[in-house]
Order: sequence, then structure tokens, then C-alpha cells
Amino acid sequence: MDREQAPAGVRQTTSASELVANREPHGDVLRMLVIGAIATAVGIAIALAIDWFPIQASRESEKVDTLWDVLLIASVPVFVLVEVVVLYSVIRFRMRPGEELKDGPPVHGNTKLEIVWTAIPAILLVGLCTYAYVVLTDAEKARANTMNVRVEGQQFTWTFFYRTPDGKEVASPQLYVPVGQPVKFTIQSRDVIHDFFVPAFRLKIDAVPGIDTSIRIRPKRTGSYPVLCAELCGLGHSTMRQTAHVVDRATFDAWLGRLGKPAASAGGGGTAAPDAKTIFTDTAGCGGCHTLAEAGTNGTTGPDLDKVLKGKDASFIRQSIVKPNAQIAPGFQPGIMPQNFGQTLQPDQLDALVDYLSKVAAK
Ligand code: CUA
Repeated sequence: MDREQAPAGVRQTTSASELVANREPHGDVLRMLVIGAIATAVGIAIALAIDWFPIQASRESEKVDTLWDVLLIASVPVFVLVEVVVLYSVIRFRMRPGEELKDGPPVHGNTKLEIVWTAIPAILLVGLCTYAYVVLTDAEKARANTMNVRVEGQQFTWTFFYRTPDGKEVASPQLYVPVGQPVKFTIQSRDVIHDFFVPAFRLKIDAVPGIDTSIRIRPKRTGSYPVLCAELCGLGHSTMRQTAHVVDRATFDAWLGRLGKPAASAGGGGTAAPDAKTIFTDTAGCGGCHTLAEAGTNGTTGPDLDKVLKGKDASFIRQSIVKPNAQIAPGFQPGIMPQNFGQTLQPDQLDALVDYLSKVAAK
């Protein structure tokens, strides 16, 4: 950088490099590099050691997690570089006693430096965006032998629709998918915007009224994982939680078979009566919102069933399940409890649940 010949009385302009030169530049730059390298190494080690995500239950989750790690490795040095320069300068070039009236030397730009600090982040960003795009495209690729599941969001529950082998559409309050099976979810909403989120699948997409959105997944690990709503959708938003069950093929086929079977024929075949407590705690998920000592649940979003069911008869209990807005317990708002248990529960499940709660109420 050239120093301009300044007219008399006008302060001379000092370039950034000269400013650094006046302060033993190599010493400062070297010190910042060493501090930066150590902080980067420590930062990346910490970033990679943190357990950011739940277990990987889908094949997509492996690639998403690798992308996340690469983003961390690329971001830490940038963050460290900026912080080291700022903090080092604050300490090293701070105002010292006797310098109160000094303004410091005026500095003008350094074109070479500006080109470098624009080009490097630009290249970095384009590279990372390209990588993220490749991961996304791979996740969204249509695959052979894909199973379709229609997901419907409504205040405040998800309902999952499956096609039985004979082409009938059946509804379930819980999500079941066979391990290893490519699945395409088509997401719809019956009222407001919700967001279908299964963290263990690294899957998340809005449910928008009037629009079908879709997402694909390949479940790779059997187990049960939370299904959430990730869009503030009303008073019961936090209760919009269900379970995704990744099961082996035989378990799935048996489950789908039971789901598709009309209640009348199911009874005749000697099928075991549905376990009412399991329906309460798991299938319908009542316990997530309701306290019931008999079932060991302690939800507080809905009325405490140990109190409000005392002395109630079966018809009241049935109505409270299938038409929850008909009578609202004092202190609670209508519309928080899903309105569709009459559709998502099988008739024999509903009967078992009503019977179970009637017995608890009569105690
Ligand atoms: Cu649905 Cu939040």
C-alpha cells in the first residue's frame, strides 16, 4: 500500500498493513494463528463430541448427520477466526493510559484482503449448498417398491391411513412401518398448518391445508420413536405427539391385517380381546394427556380422569371419547382433545376402552 503525499495540515492516511507493520505484524499474526488453530481444534472436538441427535432410525438419518458434522467442521474455523481477531485486537490494541485523546491512525482498505475474504466464504457456501442439495435429492429419490402412507394432521392429532391388500383405506392413530421398506408419506391437514416431525427419521415437513406435501424415508432400525408436531398449531400443540413403530415385516403384516378386519368378523375368529389398558396408554395415547392412577399415567393437558369420571356411566364415557366437545370439564377448553377417536379406534377397541373406564369410574 502506498502512502499518499498529504498536503500540509491534513493528517496522513495509514494503510492497514502499515498499521500492522508498526506493531511487529509477524508476531501478532503468528500469535493469532496459533490461538486460532488451538481454538479450532478444541472447537471441532467439542462440536463432534456433542450428541446432537436421537438414534438413527432411517437410512436418510446417516447422511443428514454426516452433513451436519461437515457443516460443523466448516463453521467452527470461521467462527473461531472472527472471534480470535476481535478478542485479540480488543486486548492487544486497547487504549492505554495517556492515549485518551488519541484517535488512532486512520485506515483505508486493502483490496487484496477484501477479495480474499469475499472469495473464500463464497466458495465455502457454494460447496456446502451443493453438498446439502445432493443429500436432499438422494433422500427424495423415488425408489422401487415404495409403500404409501397418507398422514392427516388436525388439531391435535395425527392419523395414518394405509391401504390393505384388498385396496381398502384404513386409519390408525399410531404409525407403523416395516423395517427396510421405502415409505412415502403424503401429508395433509384438515384445519391449520401442522408439521410432521419424526426426529429419529430426520424427517420433517409442513402439513398445509389444501396442499399435499410428501416425504420419503427408509426405516432401518426397529423400535418406537416419537412423532411430533413441530408447528405451533393451537392450544393443544404440545400434546400432538404419537409414536412411530418400526417393526419387522411379519409384525407389520399382522398389524395391518388386524387393522383392516371388520370388528364383527374379528370377534368370530377367536381373536384375543384388545387389552384396554394398552389402548389407553399406547394405541389411543389417552395417558399422554390424562391422569389415571389405574393405568399409571399422569398427563395434565386434559381432565384428571380419577376425578372427573367418578360415578359416570358408560354412555357418558363413550360420548366423551367420540364427541369430546359435547361436555367439557370445568377449567378446560373445547377442541383440545382429538375429535376423531370414533374413526381411528376400531369398534372393539372403543368398546374395550369404554368398558375399562366404566369399571375404573365405578370403583
Ligand atoms: Cu399441530 Cu402443532
